[in-house]
Amino acid sequence: MTDPRARQPLIVPSVLPADFARIGEEVQALCEAGVDRIQWDVMDGVFVPNLTFGPDLIAAARPHSTVGFEAHLMVVNPDELLGRYIDAGCELVIVHAEACTHLHRTLARIRELGARSGVALNPHTPAEVVEHVLTEADMVLAMTVNPGFGGQAYIPSVEPKIARLRRMIHDSGLPVELEVDGGITDTTIHGAAAAGADVFISGSWMYAHPHGKAAAVTQLRTVATASAREGEAT
Ligand code: DX5
Repeated sequence: MTDPRARQPLIVPSVLPADFARIGEEVQALCEAGVDRIQWDVMDGVFVPNLTFGPDLIAAARPHSTVGFEAHLMVVNPDELLGRYIDAGCELVIVHAEACTHLHRTLARIRELGARSGVALNPHTPAEVVEHVLTEADMVLAMTVNPGFGGQAYIPSVEPKIARLRRMIHDSGLPVELEVDGGITDTTIHGAAAAGADVFISGSWMYAHPHGKAAAVTQLRTVATASAREGEAT
């Protein structure tokens, strides 16, 4: 398995809990807290029963950030929106396998447009769905909640899938990140990291941390690093 030191955990906030009336300041605060990237949960009200960010809002926030943006497209028509979110300043665009008839082509298109590509799997979707597209993906996202809302409970039964994805990525020899999203706290991150995840999305837990976002980032990174080492040892 990959040396844990080679996979330093990345801590990436979801801005769903942010004060949207002050989004520029919120983005600056996340950067000052030491996050590695920022995730925009893009929802269309059809693929998931919620509606969130258009590209114009993300473009307005972009100058306030010193870290990269990733767009998690929870939409039924990602192919039609790729260019809009890349032009808005998202360096990484994540599509759902469940929304892509031609997933291989969609991931290749994201790269052609100059961004890094990611593919997300809902909790019910097996790891094998990405087996033949790892060459086109810079990241695989294993959802640890059913997408649509922040503040949901982590689904631990996804952990065997995380481990399977880690083995697939290791066997491929490709530098694919393995991200988890949903219900990530200082407690649940242990199982996800031990199973092989190396990028962690946190929204409600990070925003609610009693000692602030910087303390939350440090705590998540510390637990994830130790847990990854434990997972490597087993
Ligand atoms: C679900 C969203 C959430 C969010 C993280 O569609 O993708 O998972 O990013 O929210 P928390 O950390 O509050 O579960």
